[in-house]
Amino acid sequence: MAILVTGGAGFIGVNFVLGWLRDHDEPVVNLDKLTYAGNLESLASVMDDARHVFAHGDIGDSALVGRLLKKHKPRAIINLAAESHVDRSIHGPADFIATNVVGLSCLLETSREYCEGLHGAARQGFRFINVSTDEVFGSLGDSDPAFDESTPYAPNSPYSASKAAGDHLCRSYFHTYGLPVITTNCSNNYGPYQFPEKLIPLMIRNALRGDDLPVYGDGRNVRDWLFVDDHCAALRLVLESGIPGETYNIGGNAEMANIDVVETICDVLDELVPGAHPGRHRKLVTYVEDRPGHDRRYAINASKITSELGWQPREAFATGLRKTVEWYLANNVWVEHVESGEYRQWLDTNYARRAGRA
Ligand code: NAD
Ligand code: TYD
Repeated sequence: MAILVTGGAGFIGVNFVLGWLRDHDEPVVNLDKLTYAGNLESLASVMDDARHVFAHGDIGDSALVGRLLKKHKPRAIINLAAESHVDRSIHGPADFIATNVVGLSCLLETSREYCEGLHGAARQGFRFINVSTDEVFGSLGDSDPAFDESTPYAPNSPYSASKAAGDHLCRSYFHTYGLPVITTNCSNNYGPYQFPEKLIPLMIRNALRGDDLPVYGDGRNVRDWLFVDDHCAALRLVLESGIPGETYNIGGNAEMANIDVVETICDVLDELVPGAHPGRHRKLVTYVEDRPGHDRRYAINASKITSELGWQPREAFATGLRKTVEWYLANNVWVEHVESGEYRQWLDTNYARRAGRA
């Protein structure tokens, strides 16, 4: 037996693969295109492990995926391969359509052919886990109830629209072909190995360098935050006990305004990296031009996965954030290595025109 994880060199993928190999003997085939967001250095500890088979390639390469499926005969596919950053989708949606829609449709088709060739228990047990986001549901007002599994889709960014399209394709493969797809819609993850373009690792990196902390708009946009290990645990549970054709919302019960997240990071850094000026990291906060179409609030009602599968987040935001800051402090070399020319160019593209409004 084996599982196929796609996007296993990205943030959630690395945490999923490392966690899996800590707890299971079952091999993982890891297919990743190694875009700017994929990093083999994160997988260094398992690159020589016989249970981890790394394959460099695209989920849209049907010949390659077909060969991997034929050779390793996985009992499940967990699709984490994606373009995942909203701001990049605003600057260039094409890659998002190519991977999150066209690539996923190829992966579904190859998976369908593979699944139809399975028999008996192997066919019965096969699962395709489509890892998606809460952003497909759109934006909530301050007093709206949290998203549940029946909330209509209303994506507002090219990223969330591409994920919504992928979710609809997955739904259609269950209904039309009986491919046993389960979709999960999760809130914002944070933790080790996250690429420093996303809010939390970017703020930690900038604060450590004494650079500005660019908060979009008024800083009052709200996100729900989930420690990545809790997301990985939910995915393992969905894989083992989720019902094909169902969707499960996953969230951390940790709604926070962005400015509160940033100030909490500053306070943890003040404590862990003491200097002569208490409160000095907060002074780096700079309000900058808002993201176009910036969703105001996301919130997740995760009662279905809690009541039906027994999952709950274990990590509180305060402890998870502290662990995350400690990880970045201990892994500065990892951050330096991902700061390629491409990364510096991205910082220019996204932030140079956003003059500080302070
Ligand atoms: P990430 O950007 O850190 O990693 C994506 C990985 O996919 C990278 O390793 C990249 O090389 C790989 N990849 C990209 N295109 C590929 C292709 N065509 N073929 C094969 N590999 C490809 O993303 P992440 O944060 O780990 O997110 C993983 C999944 O979880 C995504 O589907 C994302 O939408 C979803 N998700 C993420 C969050 C979050 O907060 N990070 C929250 C909810 C859902
Ligand atoms: P991000 O980590 O990009 O995740 P998402 O947009 O998928 O929720 O951003 C989280 C929040 O932080 C979002 O409201 C945008 C905001 N943000 C900033 O204020 N400044 C930044 O530099 C970044 C990257 C994000």
